[in-house]
Amino acid sequence: MTTMDDVVAAETVLSRVDGEGGRLVVHGHDLEDLVAGHGFEATAALLWGAVDPGLGDARAVARALGAARVSVFERVPAILAATAGLAPIDVLRAGVAALAADDDRGAVVLATAAMPVLLAATARRDRGLDPVAPDPALGQVADLLGMLGGTPTEPARVQALERYLVTVADHGMNASTFAARVIAATGSDPVSAVTGAIGALKGPLHGGAPGPVLDMLDAVGAPADAGTWIASALDRGQRLMGFGHRIYRTRDPRADVLKAALAELAPRDPARTALAEAVERAARDALATRHPGRRLDTNVEFYTALLLEAVGIERALFTPMFAVGRVIGWTAHVLEQRATGRLIRPKARYVGPVPVGDDFRAAANG
Ligand code: ACO
Repeated sequence: MTTMDDVVAAETVLSRVDGEGGRLVVHGHDLEDLVAGHGFEATAALLWGAVDPGLGDARAVARALGAARVSVFERVPAILAATAGLAPIDVLRAGVAALAADDDRGAVVLATAAMPVLLAATARRDRGLDPVAPDPALGQVADLLGMLGGTPTEPARVQALERYLVTVADHGMNASTFAARVIAATGSDPVSAVTGAIGALKGPLHGGAPGPVLDMLDAVGAPADAGTWIASALDRGQRLMGFGHRIYRTRDPRADVLKAALAELAPRDPARTALAEAVERAARDALATRHPGRRLDTNVEFYTALLLEAVGIERALFTPMFAVGRVIGWTAHVLEQRATGRLIRPKARYVGPVPVGDDFRAAANG
């Protein structure tokens, strides 16, 4: 089967994923140091500034994001009216698609600011509540939780969510980032690229896994039942959400960063922790036994699910929450692709029928 696994589709200064070593470096910072030393705005400034120095100042980025959240909020009634009945991730896709900015910088900031505003507004709508206006003086993460809950949020929850969002900000040439770069490479605009990236993110093999991780924990029920439940799920040919990765041949380093953030936030729920640990152990053991030649370990989504649950985020918001963080990477890659890249146009190997009497080769590419 033809795959693109070993194809290098771009040169990037943004992040490097070492799948063998289980290491993620984001523009010169090991993930653990990035998360310890950078909040949301500083991470955006780091990645955007790596490509466009005009976006490299964290304070200026914070001000621009605050102002852009206010401007997106003015459009919320129209966006909610046009997206009645859609799932939150689809509201994000449609809402972002409806935005426009004068230039690339403006579009990058606007698309990034739109994520928390749209996520909070759609979550409140689904609870039968009016949207809460953003506070441009707050950081993006505190403002997101404020817009969601309608009240100021404890700093520990803001910090835990911020660690998650920074952890997932960028990750090499993942599927949604590649989708964004393909769109940007045609000369299209950043809003279109982010819209396409959201579509790629929503699939269960990419950003849609954390909700099903909690469904799995609920279905297992008790730590003692983890082994039996996992074995029967695998016997039915089911994939275990939160395990395995296309690139990592060892543990996903993001899982440990999130596990540590979770431990700081939620020592208060030992029963949930015990269940999660039992499921993780049973899943790793069963996958190792069934796939001895292919190391399948915990990925970022397993601890994402537990962390977001502990922060108080409902399951329907898990995938859009991923977009709130990953939009930093998408937009940085879009800027990079537009600055340095060329049209991305791979080939397909034709294996269909050839015209009768024609010598057009089945292997012809194009
Ligand atoms: N549960 C059960 N079996 C699995 C799993 C899993 N989570 N992951 C891989 N396998 C199996 C495959 O079915 C395959 O079996 P086969 O050889 O008998 O056909 C074998 O292990 C090898 O699979 P890979 O080639 O390593 O898997 P691939 O690289 O195609 O898939 C993926 C990677 C999509 C992430 C996969 O591991 C998966 O479906 N995981 C569950 C979904 C998930 O957690 N997604 C989030 C990924 S992280 C992110 O995108 C942010």
